[in-house]
Amino acid sequence: MTCTSEVSNNFHSRKNGMPKLYEQLASWWPLLSSPEEYAEEAEFFKKVLLENCAPPLRTLLELGSGGGNNTSHLKTHFQMTLVDLSPGMLQVSRALNPECEHFEGDMRTVRLDRLFDAVFIHDAIMYMTTEDDLGRAMATAFLHCRPGGVALFAPDHVRETFSPETDHGGHDGERRAMRYLEWAHDPDPSDTTYVVDYAYLLREPDGAARVEHDRHIEGIFNREVWLRLLRQNGFEPKIVVDSYGRDIFVALRAHTQV
Ligand SMILES: C[S@@+](CC[C@H](N)C(=O)[O-])C[C@H]1O[C@@H](n2cnc3c(N)ncnc32)[C@H](O)[C@@H]1O
Repeated sequence: MTCTSEVSNNFHSRKNGMPKLYEQLASWWPLLSSPEEYAEEAEFFKKVLLENCAPPLRTLLELGSGGGNNTSHLKTHFQMTLVDLSPGMLQVSRALNPECEHFEGDMRTVRLDRLFDAVFIHDAIMYMTTEDDLGRAMATAFLHCRPGGVALFAPDHVRETFSPETDHGGHDGERRAMRYLEWAHDPDPSDTTYVVDYAYLLREPDGAARVEHDRHIEGIFNREVWLRLLRQNGFEPKIVVDSYGRDIFVALRAHTQV
């Protein structure tokens, strides 16, 4: 692909800012988050995509595809192409979704020089921490979406729905096991970021356990900013609310651009 050297450079320039979960701890991802947990929301995303894309909807590009958990469900309906910044996460996804195309790339800059029926960015959009970055990810989605197609953006929160929260979970693997505590808070509500601290408890095959702290800096924008940036990047946007109360941005690429 023409994109390879460019995206590798982008990855290395950002590498030190990436959470441990997507670098040295990437192989633990399936023990933090399992594909089964994504079945219900993947069904919802499939339905929204089909309702909003001018037929046919065959090809789907996912930007920031991570460990490929959503894809493990969506791939039974669509031909999927996956892009992620992290080689470790791509490796996890390739093991789960060997039949899908995978590319290393940054959602702000990657150019595959192909059009897809639809483009999907799930929770990876949370790593866009400035309006400029969010707009660049939208521009990438627009450039890869055919006229009449649709792009779906599924942030965990918009500014209006954010509240501090804690969560926990984890799974037992065949040899290793993981449990985690997740704690989201916003030290400065006047800026476009918030903080998610994770404590991972990692149990190795010999029974030894260790703790890792991982701080994720994530982006948060109000609805008006989302809608304005989507329009600026060529889309006709609307919002649907999912069963978790999340704002899902459905962005149509018109058949004819004016
Ligand atoms: C929570 S994981 C995504 C999990 C995914 N929704 C799934 O179904 O498995 C977030 C992903 O965003 C990726 N990411 C963060 N910044 C990115 C960027 N600028 N471009 C592409 N991927 C990015 C990370 O490497 C990570 O794999």
